[in-house]
Amino acid sequence: MDKKTIIVTGGAGFIGSNFVYYMLKKYPNYRIVCLDALTYAGNLSTLEKAMKKENFRFVKGDIRDREAVDNLFAEEEPDVVVNFAAESHVDRSIENPQIFLETNIMGPEVLMEACLKHKVGRYHQVSTDEVYGDLPLDRPDLFFTEKTNLHTSSPYSASKASADLLTMAYHRTFGLPATISRCSNNYGPYHFPEKLIPLMIINALNDKPLPVYGDGKNVRDWLYVEDHCKAIDMIIHADCVGEVYNVGGHNEMANIDIVKLILKELGKPESLITFVEDRKGHDRRYAIDPTKIKTQLGWEPETKFTNGIVKTIKWYLDHKDWWEEIISGEYQKYYEKMYGGK
Ligand code: NAD
Ligand code: DAU
Repeated sequence: MDKKTIIVTGGAGFIGSNFVYYMLKKYPNYRIVCLDALTYAGNLSTLEKAMKKENFRFVKGDIRDREAVDNLFAEEEPDVVVNFAAESHVDRSIENPQIFLETNIMGPEVLMEACLKHKVGRYHQVSTDEVYGDLPLDRPDLFFTEKTNLHTSSPYSASKASADLLTMAYHRTFGLPATISRCSNNYGPYHFPEKLIPLMIINALNDKPLPVYGDGKNVRDWLYVEDHCKAIDMIIHADCVGEVYNVGGHNEMANIDIVKLILKELGKPESLITFVEDRKGHDRRYAIDPTKIKTQLGWEPETKFTNGIVKTIKWYLDHKDWWEEIISGEYQKYYEKMYGGK
């Protein structure tokens, strides 16, 4: 098996960390370097097992820091860069758009400049189905394809769409060997407890109210995180520079049904459900058409939602330490001690 060095940005977050573990397991010959700024969403304890591997390196750094990125690329000479680093929570982007523009647009620009300078063989931008806006609930025949117009609703999705446009511009104008994946909602281990599924699991376990936005009928298309990792692995190893791939498993669920399912699995009462004010600009329905990645690369999701959600709930039950530390803010105190001022 050939050797590669892959820089994974945002690898201390939810999907990035799952990708680190997926790659370390599948490619023991590869060197995996994680660059992460450890924002509130990054968690070093998530990478504890990876840290024990000789072919893994963690670097605390910001993708917007041109000099630090340039130095790291000079030192590591990566073959591939996969950019997961982002501000990822829609609600936070409504509260404070600025950091979303800085991280999600300027960050990729810094990374792509470094890729050009250091002749990196592939830059992969991890994007989202949210760049397509939303679909109506009464048209179940409609799906997002790669040809659907970009049509964004939140500062988050606008920043991700901007990064996609910039990535394609770098490909066309400067010949950057780039690819993009646009995935639907992920769920699974290490999902930060501000997002729907982990928040509902944890609140239910703590007998706290489960806040459902609006009427709870908004639909998301859920994919087990490992299936997303598999898709990215296939894309970065395929001869498909300049291509965009939608990733999703045809698994549409209304929020309220997910919440009820979680309560049922945990044996908690539905009286914990509390309908709260709707999210501003709340997208109604997301639904991916994954035909292109299936036919061109042979990607298929492996985990069915019914199994994946049970596995995920079990993971949260078995990893109370992980999320209790986050909720209590202990891990932020730890960073302050470890990296304070750096
Ligand atoms: P996350 O919020 O859990 O993790 C983001 C990570 O990026 C954190 O570790 C954080 O510390 C790091 N980071 C943030 N700003 C940084 C910066 N300036 N420099 C370096 N590191 C920085 O996010 P996630 O849910 O794992 O999402 C990862 C990527 O996948 C994002 O680009 C997101 O847009 C995309 N995506 C997410 C989903 C989903 O369902 N979560 C679906 C499709 C696409
Ligand atoms: O579709 C991909 C996107 O999925 C990613 O690009 C984003 O990074 C990721 O955060 C996710 O965005 P969503 O906004 O869909 O995920 P979130 O978990 O925030 O919300 C899922 C749905 O649940 C959405 O309709 C809002 C609703 N919701 C969410 C929370 C946090 C609630 O009803 N109550 C809540 O407390």
